[in-house]
Amino acid sequence: MSTAATKTYNIVLLPGDGVGPEVTRAARDVLRVIGDFYGHHFEFAEHLIGGAAIDETGEPLPEATRAACVASDAVLLGAVGGPKWDGGKARPEQGLLAIRKAMGLFANLRPLQVSPVLAHRSPLKKEIVEGVDLIVFRELTGGVYFGEKTRTADRATDLCEYTVPEIERVTRAAFQTAQQRRGKVTSVDKANVMETSRLWREVVTRIHAEEFPDITLEHALVDSMAMHLIRKPREYDVILTENMFGDILSDEISVLGGSIGLLPSASLGAGGPGLFEPIHGSAPDIAGKGIANPYATLFSAAMLLRHSLGLEAEAAAVEAAVHAVLDDGVFTADLAAKGQAVSTAAATDAVLAKLK
Ligand code: IPM
Ligand code: MN
Repeated sequence: MSTAATKTYNIVLLPGDGVGPEVTRAARDVLRVIGDFYGHHFEFAEHLIGGAAIDETGEPLPEATRAACVASDAVLLGAVGGPKWDGGKARPEQGLLAIRKAMGLFANLRPLQVSPVLAHRSPLKKEIVEGVDLIVFRELTGGVYFGEKTRTADRATDLCEYTVPEIERVTRAAFQTAQQRRGKVTSVDKANVMETSRLWREVVTRIHAEEFPDITLEHALVDSMAMHLIRKPREYDVILTENMFGDILSDEISVLGGSIGLLPSASLGAGGPGLFEPIHGSAPDIAGKGIANPYATLFSAAMLLRHSLGLEAEAAAVEAAVHAVLDDGVFTADLAAKGQAVSTAAATDAVLAKLK
């Protein structure tokens, strides 16, 4: 029952492909319980994206989906893609790129904290990963992803382009976050080779001097950064980088904590709704089996509560509940010892039980 004090938030769910529907269902169930407990009404509307949208409409991002997303308070996405659509004229991933652009989501945040209970599952030594607490700020609507593409029979090009305002806005967002954290930004580029990187470094250096002199800024070349992230990941706080480098480095970082099945992300623009999604993909090999890890999507739902709805206590409650079940050893197949794995539904129920 709605009371006068109950506020309604419109959340668009984009389940997408593979395990996407299973993990977004888990997040919806958790958000419902949070809404009941704190007195909010979350109104959910499901829309098509990716391969599921291609199958039904022929397009990876139907107009109805785009319109619903830009008019919403926040968007929660599962995953897109899968071998089923390989070689087709439209690719599921185009839907994701198009919705990022349509919503103006220029900053992609990918936090990583290595939980003490899981540090031993990392492929790296426990001494290296224990205590890692960093966040990647990846520029999301520029660079080689969105530059002009050309193709003839024997030649192909992808243009990498950045403008000063595009670099400035994501840089400010990264510095602002560093002010709330340990006060350090590492900007990653390839300024020894690329002109876009030289511009990137110039702009980041200027914004730092003019607006954020209190923050410690360092620059790193992307190749050596790939190495440092394995050797000394604990040294990093905020990592700021352009679209393609951020794509690659964030996958590298995702293995440090033991399972990509735990990592959330937020894509934010200038004040409008944000889009939140687990970092893992559609995992077609386990889709429909009810065994996917829902925790990355639940952490993404927490980021949605915090960043798009401004509900900090609610966000913290979801995070605390997931950490509590991790401490209890409630693990899906990606994390569990042989024979100990629980289903997506059981893992979600364990989180719901902590919330009640
Ligand atoms: C990601 C993904 C996407 C990207 C793909 C699916 C287009 O890898 O979100 O990191 O490259 O941005
Ligand atoms: Mn990626």
